[in-house]
Amino acid sequence: MTVVKSTLPEEALGVTGTALQETLVDLLGLSLIGKQAHWNVVGPRFRSIHLQLDEVVAATREHSDTVAERAAALGVSPDGRPETIAATFALPGAKDGWLRDTEVVELMVSALEAAITRLRERIEATEKADPVTQDLLISVTADLEKQRWMFEAENHPRDDAS
Ligand SMILES: [Fe+2]
Repeated sequence: MTVVKSTLPEEALGVTGTALQETLVDLLGLSLIGKQAHWNVVGPRFRSIHLQLDEVVAATREHSDTVAERAAALGVSPDGRPETIAATFALPGAKDGWLRDTEVVELMVSALEAAITRLRERIEATEKADPVTQDLLISVTADLEKQRWMFEAENHPRDDAS
């Protein structure tokens, strides 16, 4: 059923719709991982990591809304259902139970890195298909790279800061 008519030709719409849907799933999944780690983190760095995780959650939730609404604006129905996320999520996830602060930092760096790699592929894919969507994906990537940096910096050993 086509409800919202697209302004893009069919082939470009296919590429763009896939890029937006995959990004939506990555962002929603990251927001869930962020909360899971926010609730389960333990260790001496609890406070700073607990708070940092909520920044990731806020950023990914906001970006997921932008990405989903871009899809809708192009006539592609966004699918953010839990069963869709469970079936298609492809980033590293959290193990169950309590998570040591060091484990959380490693988890967030690897999950964000995987998301960034996938986003950069979609930035290339949408360059011709839809530069407007590409622009949006570039902003999302910049923000995830900022988040990744903040966790990566957390990981640096205290006695080797040079
Ligand atoms: Fe909280």
